[in-house]
Amino acid sequence: MRKKNSLKSMIEQGKLIKIVGAHNGLTAKLVEEAGFNGIWASGLEISTSHAVPDANILTMTDYLHAAEDMVSTVNVPVIADCDTGYGNSNNVMQMVKRYEAAGVSAVCIEDKKFPKVNSFISGRQELAPVAEFAGKIMAAKNTQTTRDFMVFARTEALIAGWGMDEALRRAEAYIESGADGIFIHSKAATPDEIEKFCKIWNRRSPLMICPTTYEISEKEMEKLGVNVVIYANQAIRASIKSVQETLAYMKENGPSGLGSRIVPMDEVFRLQGMYAMKDNEKKYLKSETGTLKAIVPAAGGKISTDLDELLEDRPVGMLDINGKSLLQRNVEALNIAGIQDINVVVGYRAESVAVEGARTVMNERFKDTGIMRSIIEGADSIADKNLILYSDLLLDQYLLQNLVKKEGDIIVVVDSTYKKANKRNKKLELVETLNPTVDDLRVVDTNRKNPVSRIGGKVEEHDGHYEFIGLALVSKKGMEVLKKEYEGAALPEPVSFVDFLQHIIDKGHEVLAYEVTSGWKEIHTLEDYRDAGSFFATGEK
Ligand code: SPV
Ligand code: MG
Repeated sequence: MRKKNSLKSMIEQGKLIKIVGAHNGLTAKLVEEAGFNGIWASGLEISTSHAVPDANILTMTDYLHAAEDMVSTVNVPVIADCDTGYGNSNNVMQMVKRYEAAGVSAVCIEDKKFPKVNSFISGRQELAPVAEFAGKIMAAKNTQTTRDFMVFARTEALIAGWGMDEALRRAEAYIESGADGIFIHSKAATPDEIEKFCKIWNRRSPLMICPTTYEISEKEMEKLGVNVVIYANQAIRASIKSVQETLAYMKENGPSGLGSRIVPMDEVFRLQGMYAMKDNEKKYLKSETGTLKAIVPAAGGKISTDLDELLEDRPVGMLDINGKSLLQRNVEALNIAGIQDINVVVGYRAESVAVEGARTVMNERFKDTGIMRSIIEGADSIADKNLILYSDLLLDQYLLQNLVKKEGDIIVVVDSTYKKANKRNKKLELVETLNPTVDDLRVVDTNRKNPVSRIGGKVEEHDGHYEFIGLALVSKKGMEVLKKEYEGAALPEPVSFVDFLQHIIDKGHEVLAYEVTSGWKEIHTLEDYRDAGSFFATGEK
C-alpha cells in the first residue's frame, strides 16, 4: 500500500516524528486517529497480544501478519520492529522481501543474538558480533526494491551494559554498512546516556529513540537531533489497565452502570469500518432488483379515532404489537424482502421513535405539511426502486417480496375487499382504475396492467374499485418525477400522498395499480390494534 507520506520524506523535513506502538489494525487506527505520525509494529505489543513472552516465541509470519493488518488499516507509515531479523542474513533477506511487499515503510533490526529477549528483562542480553550484524544490514539494503524503504539499525550496546564507546562504534559500523538510521536504546532511569550518545553522534544520521524507563521532553529530543521518537508500549499498557478495571467492575456489579467506562457499540462499528462498508454496498452490491430503499412517513400525530388515547406519547408506528413496535415489525419484513436502506420520517413525538435497522429523518414542519412533505424529506437519496409505506400499516413479508419484483414507475398497492369488509365508517383512500375487477372483487391475472384513473378525495364511494392500502413502489424515474412535480407545483400544504398522485395523473403521468386481497392490515382504530395483536399471538415473527 502506498502511504500518503513516505517516512523518508517526513524525516527529510526535519521535524520530530512521533510514532506509537501498536499490535493490530485496531490499535494502529487508534494511533493514527490520535494524530501521531506513524505506527511502530511493536514486537513487545504483538507478543503481548498473543500472551507470549517478547522473546521470538512467535514466528516472523505472526509478526508480519500483524504488520500487514496495520498497513492496510492506516495511511501513516508503519515501521516494523523485526527483532534480530529472525535468524541470520538469509532470514533478513526473506524478511525484507516480505515486509517491503506488505507495504511497511521501514524495518528495524537489533544487534542481539537470536532469539532475543525484551530489552527490559535483565539477564541474558547477548550482543551479536558487529561484523555479523553489519552483514545483515547490507543484506537488507541490497534486498529492498523501492527507493524510499528504510532500514534502521538498533544497537543494544547500552542495554547489554557494553557502554557508550561500544554503542558509538556499532552505530558507526552500521551506518557504514548502509543503514538509513540508528535506533539507540536505553533502559536507564534517566536520559543521561541517551543525551550523551545524541550529542556525540551529532546528527551523523537519522536517529530514533524509545523513552520508556527514562523521561525526556520532545523539545529536548529535537534539540539533541532525534528524528523519530517511539512510544512503543504505552498504548497496550493503557488498554490492559482499562480492560482489567472494567472486568473488575463487572465482576462486582454485573454489566449495569458500565456507562462511560466502555465505548458504545456505534464506536466499535465505526472503527470496524462498518458504516463505510454500508455506503459502499449502496454503490457496489448489485442485485437483480437493483438498489432498494424504503421511506416510511411516520411524522403524523393523532388520527381522530378511538386509538388516540394510546397516541399521547408516541406516533402510531411505535404502538407495541406483542412485544415489538409496528415500525420494528415492518423494518424486519423489509429486511427480509432485501431492503436495508430504510428512512423513517419522524415529527410527532419524534423522541419516542427508536427502530433498529432504520435511520430517522426529521420533518421539522410535520404539523403543517402533510405526508407528501415527509416522503420528500425521506427521499434524501433515490434507489432504483423506492418503497413508500404508511407507518400505520402492518405488512406481510411476502407481499413486499412480490411487490419489489414489479416493473413500473409508480405502482400503488390496492385492495378491493373493503367492499365486503366492514369498513363503512372508515375514511378510505379510494382508487378508480381503467380495468376494474370482476364482480367487484376478483381478478385472475394480478400481473395485468391496470392504470389508475382517479385516486383519493376525487373518487366518489360508488366509483371506487379499490382502497389504497398505503404502500407504493416508485422507480428511480418515478421518484424523480414525484420530487420535481412536488417542488414545482408548490401546492398548498398539507398535501396527502393520494391527492398528490392525482395531481401527477392529471399531469399525464401513469400510476399503476397492483391488486392484492391480503397480506396487510392498517391500524386506524382500537379494534384494528387488537386484531393486529392476534396475528402475533404466539410471539413469533
Ligand atoms: C518493542 O516495542 O518491541 C521494542 C521496544 O522493541 S522495547 O520494548 O521498549 O524494547
Ligand atoms: Mg521489540
